[in-house]
Amino acid sequence: MATTQNLPPVDQRHHKAFDSISVPERLLLGPGPSNAHPSVLKALSLPPIGHLDPFYVDLMGEVQELLRYAWQTDNRLTLPMSGTGSSAMEATIANVVEPNECVLVAVNGYFGNRLVDMAGRYRAQVETIEKPWGDAFSLEELELAVEQYRPSVLAMVHAETSTGVCQPMQGIGELCHKYDCLLLLDTVTSLGGVPLFIDEWGVDLAYSCSQKGLSCPPGLGPFTMSPRAEKKLERRVGKVPNWYLDVSLLNKYWGSDRVYHHTAPVNMNFGIREALRLLSEEGLENSWERHKKNAEKLWEGLESLGLKLHVSEDLRLTTLTTVQIPEGVNGKEFNLHLLNNHGIEIGAGLGSLAGKVWRIGLMGYNSTPENVERILNLFKTELPRFKENVACAA
Ligand SMILES: Cc1ncc(COP(=O)(O)O)c(C=O)c1O
Repeated sequence: MATTQNLPPVDQRHHKAFDSISVPERLLLGPGPSNAHPSVLKALSLPPIGHLDPFYVDLMGEVQELLRYAWQTDNRLTLPMSGTGSSAMEATIANVVEPNECVLVAVNGYFGNRLVDMAGRYRAQVETIEKPWGDAFSLEELELAVEQYRPSVLAMVHAETSTGVCQPMQGIGELCHKYDCLLLLDTVTSLGGVPLFIDEWGVDLAYSCSQKGLSCPPGLGPFTMSPRAEKKLERRVGKVPNWYLDVSLLNKYWGSDRVYHHTAPVNMNFGIREALRLLSEEGLENSWERHKKNAEKLWEGLESLGLKLHVSEDLRLTTLTTVQIPEGVNGKEFNLHLLNNHGIEIGAGLGSLAGKVWRIGLMGYNSTPENVERILNLFKTELPRFKENVACAA
């Protein structure tokens, strides 16, 4: 038996008595996370089982099939990465980009810049095409850039959470096929809430998250890869320079071999299975329509209060709306007021839109007419009072 005789005394400085956890009630109407559906929370609290248990192995297959439906793809390599959306984002780049290859990133917001950073870390020759934050790319602009740089990968964001823009996808897949480059798409704020057709649009690599349109807490990063992207992975000269995200290794666990790779977060997968099951029960078209209706109700209500929306209606995301902060209002203080006094989170602006916009998310479980009414009422009653307070304090 181990003896404690020669051990040093236990340092008690960090040994404090904490109460058991209690979390304040919040309505999450920001850029994400969104509130989780109650039956997803129930699934998350089921007792864990082994990650190689035959029951769990069957559940993995179900999650993959549900994800293929949500993404409208037949891709074999469709699975949730154990990590948040950024892990799946990094997986798309880590698996197909080799050093000195050209990756062209279309940047019109914060997350385009994250793709630039990641591709650079994998030693790609990164080129960018840029648009103002609040705008989208035309097919002609993309074609000019692809023709100029001849990239191996064109990376772009379908739903820019920092700006509220939904990138039109018509023709981009064909363009990438014509120039023999892979199309990589960030679908973090579109999956489940916005029409998305991975195969039809010719998308080769896509990633998403669990905590927005899927109404599950953060922790998983759905990932999908086309047969074309798989071929590029097979042709690699060097190993994927990231062990944890190497899809060829991960597929030995998610594919038929069922070889241990890492201990899967089994409860998160219980949760996402329930979240995806709910989406499939509702039906994609119904979910997209619900998000559209509620977003339109929000836009109409905000505009009738005299507020200006940052993105033109034809490019507006239905999952996330950017509202311009009126002159003289301290946006951050209004955010804090809603959170502290009404238990509602809305987002502040990011990057070049910091201090200029609020970001209101209506995603998954939270996209309801009741939530739209609740937030509109608060803008109606609190914002004028808030403006007076700001004027008084000035
Ligand atoms: C468009 C977009 N891409 C990537 C990410 C990163 O996802 P995560 O924060 O889950 O790592 C986010 C997060 O909000 C996002 O909105």
